[in-house]
Amino acid sequence: MQLEHALAVVTGGSSGIGFATAERFVAEGARVVISGRNAEKLQQAADKLGENALPVIANAANPEDMQRLYQTAVGHFQCDVDVVVANAGISRQTPLRETTLQQFSDVLDINVGGVYSTVREALPFLARPASIVLVASLAASQGTKNFSAYCASKAAVVSLAKCFAADLVELGVRVNSISPGVAHTPIFDTLGISEAQLLQWSNAIPMKRPAEPAEVAAAILFLASNASGYVTGADLAVDGGMSGISPF
Ligand SMILES: NC(=O)c1ccc[n+]([C@@H]2O[C@H](COP(=O)([O-])OP(=O)(O)OC[C@H]3O[C@@H](n4cnc5c(N)ncnc54)[C@H](OP(=O)(O)O)[C@@H]3O)[C@@H](O)[C@H]2O)c1
Repeated sequence: MQLEHALAVVTGGSSGIGFATAERFVAEGARVVISGRNAEKLQQAADKLGENALPVIANAANPEDMQRLYQTAVGHFQCDVDVVVANAGISRQTPLRETTLQQFSDVLDINVGGVYSTVREALPFLARPASIVLVASLAASQGTKNFSAYCASKAAVVSLAKCFAADLVELGVRVNSISPGVAHTPIFDTLGISEAQLLQWSNAIPMKRPAEPAEVAAAILFLASNASGYVTGADLAVDGGMSGISPF
């Protein structure tokens, strides 16, 4: 058991990578608070996770929501927070010509502002030591046609992990990011990306398949747990070789 008795908060824990992470954390002995905006989806996820999971409806981009989430978590479980996974995020196609500044900002509000509030509002409630994992993306380092808002937001997340690591190292709080490539989750349903296009993307992955959410969760567990006790300010690629292996 790698997280026995730990209290973990996973934003966006109702679906995809966040849900798989919460599931793995519970299996490793943790109590887990999961958040999301859709109450029904969140309750269904909590029901699947069982009694060691507490659902709290909260928009990660709203600091008051996040403050309430941490107060609820600490009040309910009567201990400080050992692990925070800032996972909540959205993806949108934002073609340069057709995307307004407001539409661009909407993506950054959640993907960057949400991560900022998730970490900032956690500070009064953190145990010492504690571990924070930010979910970035391979998109942080690869220009992708029609995805400038998403790519820029994820580049900011990688940078935030390094900056927060510097801000918090003296407090015994480690901060790292992970960069998944393509993982098989409902995020693609919102993008209008066809199965054929996904198959094409998969063929470009050296391992020739997308990640299962549980595989990304295993990498998050490594960064969350004491197994990575000497790791801070790092970004871990979980991308089937996409960033590290030349296509030639
Ligand atoms: N899947 C991939 O290929 C991939 C690759 C690289 C990185 N990522 C990153 O991994 C993270 C999880 O993505 P996923 O693929 O698992 O997507 P997903 O299945 O769509 O899950 C996203 C989760 O985030 C929640 N969420 C979205 N906006 C939120 C907000 N403002 N406040 C609170 N919760 C919010 C959603 O719940 P509600 O909608 O109910 O709020 C949901 O629980 C994201 O940051 C994504 O960018 C994914």
